[in-house]
Amino acid sequence: MSFPKEIHITEVGPRDGLQNQPMSVPTQRKIDWINALSATGLSTIETTAFVSPKWVPQLADSKEVYTGISKTDGVRYSALVPNEFGWRSALEVGVDEIAVITAASETFSEKNTNTTIEGSLLRIAPIIQSAIEHGIQVRCYLSCVVACPYEGSIDMNVVRNIAERILDFGASAIDLGETIGVALPEDIRRLYDALDGVLSPEESILHLHNTNGKALLCIEEALHCGVVKFDASCGGLGGCPYAPGAAGNVATEDVVAFAHERGIETGIDFQKLVDASSMIESELQCVLPSNAYRTFKDAHTFPNE
Ligand code: HMG
Ligand code: MG
Repeated sequence: MSFPKEIHITEVGPRDGLQNQPMSVPTQRKIDWINALSATGLSTIETTAFVSPKWVPQLADSKEVYTGISKTDGVRYSALVPNEFGWRSALEVGVDEIAVITAASETFSEKNTNTTIEGSLLRIAPIIQSAIEHGIQVRCYLSCVVACPYEGSIDMNVVRNIAERILDFGASAIDLGETIGVALPEDIRRLYDALDGVLSPEESILHLHNTNGKALLCIEEALHCGVVKFDASCGGLGGCPYAPGAAGNVATEDVVAFAHERGIETGIDFQKLVDASSMIESELQCVLPSNAYRTFKDAHTFPNE
């Protein structure tokens, strides 16, 4: 089976990567890190989230971060907004793109956004409408498309019905969140089969966490399904404070190495990406889990050599 010529990666580390850290990173360090990510060839970076600081204190400096970064031509700087309050803040700072959130699990929706699935849809519909009127692109996260940390496996008819509603609202893209990182390749195939006729794989974005270490296999299956847009987090940072036990996102380095090995273009300079990841690794004093990153840093070898 053939692969696409190129894929598009959204770097979500500054949002998904930082929201679950035990410590808050100083604002200027976040800005320096996002500026370094901007030099890697990435074309979209999710910079922060305009969420309640009571819910996610790690991102309480979202306005300062967004206004502090040096925007590079050709890079789109996105931010997550959970409600009208967050949307107004995003608009104030001149955001390029927003990501709104809903979920296919009632319990996750309540835990993550203090409302039901229906409540979340009613919340995001006017935001999407207003963003369209302002000429701002909207990505809509649909979490728990395979499994929920509280409810277990998810009925994919629910995913299909919610995806239909979101598209009716006019969102330019649906970002399918495998929130807890337990998917197997066959789940990805089932997901896209369930979405057949509603959301084409080419138009979707796939957001994988990597708790079971199978995210790259899932990406391979997704590529065969026709998916060309993926989220990833540099070094494999990440997790959701309201999805206990879930590991970070699939690592950007791992996706880039995987793609380049197969002749798929990403536009991303691997070494510059590692440099950017090193900055946040030192700041957090952690060991980033990405295999490709570790191969380069510890074994001084390009992962595909
Ligand atoms: P709530 O408590 O119901 O909100 O939370 P509220 O409207 O009752 O307001 C409570 C207080 O928060 C008020 O302040 C508001 O002003 C303030 P007080 O009067 O008490 O002083 N407030 C805000 N402040 C700043 N920015 C805001 C904001 N909104 C209210 N936007 C709410 C509802 C949606 C706000 C809350 O549940 C929330 O912030 N949730 C976000 C949680 C989150 O960020 N989770 C992680 C991101 S989602 C994820 O990781 C999954 C994903 O990666 C995909 C995947 O992996 O599947 C995207
Ligand atoms: Mg996530």
